[in-house]
Amino acid sequence: MPRIVYVNGEYLPYAQASVHVEDRGFQFADGVYEVIGCIHGHLADETGHLDRLERSLAELKMPMPVSRETLRFLMRECLRRNHLKNAGIYIQITRGAARRDFKFPDPNTTGQSLVIIASSFNFDGNAAVLHGVKVKTLEDIRWKRRDIKTVALLAQALAKQEAVEEGLGDAWMVDPQGFITEGSASNAWIITKDQTLLTRPVSHDILRGVTRTAIEKICAEKKIKIIERAFTVHEAYEAVEAFTSSATALITSVIEIDGHKIGEGKPGPITKEIYNEYRAYVDGLRGEQVHWEAGL
Ligand code: PDD
Repeated sequence: MPRIVYVNGEYLPYAQASVHVEDRGFQFADGVYEVIGCIHGHLADETGHLDRLERSLAELKMPMPVSRETLRFLMRECLRRNHLKNAGIYIQITRGAARRDFKFPDPNTTGQSLVIIASSFNFDGNAAVLHGVKVKTLEDIRWKRRDIKTVALLAQALAKQEAVEEGLGDAWMVDPQGFITEGSASNAWIITKDQTLLTRPVSHDILRGVTRTAIEKICAEKKIKIIERAFTVHEAYEAVEAFTSSATALITSVIEIDGHKIGEGKPGPITKEIYNEYRAYVDGLRGEQVHWEAGL
């Protein structure tokens, strides 16, 4: 059975699914995306992701190409047609295909592109989650609006590739002042000796993760202390635990940073607790899924 992908109004076999050569996503990275995990048939924090999608679009002066209800239906249809219960759902919206020109095309004559791809994902047997990952730090060379989830991901791809070529799982990016911004495709967290979680406050410097919002909610319920402040690379080396959060990595323990072992060098108890709570919450066993309020 071929994989089925949604492209601009059609469900097509994967091999035939394509967009135009002059799609502005292709030429200008003029588009946004979202990744939503479907875990055991539950779309994790769907509302939060759609809230953020609408905000990313608004920041780039693009409308939603279809209603939220239609998008919710299309995602489920992609899952259904691919017989998937555990998947990463990728939604990409661009300003559409038009003759190459830096200024925006006329929206009355150029339709946006909407692509939805559901890819199978093994959330239960994810080796990175089970054993943790080793990361390296490197310079954050991205543009200044990292709060918008655009498809301009070259800096992140370069960062990830550099880490992988060194046999590591991921890269944590660092600002000019020596503070960690975030992972190549995840938010970065450390836990200090006094059992406090540190993560960078929301600003234009990072993408405000939907999983991050869920973790904040879980920690408030579990009375785990979080302080939102930037932390240095050196503070990260000294952490007793560290982890990353994202829609697909969920909560993945970081066991080594630049060769410095973190804690015991294996997933620590607070990270595991937050992970277990998060899984229970996505499975609908406890707690309400989060919204992602507009603004920063
Ligand atoms: N990335 N920061 C960056 C730079 C990201 O790319 C992501 C997610 C996050 C975490 O956001 P969330 O918790 O909402 O997934 C933070 C997705 C998973 C990706 O690009 O595949």
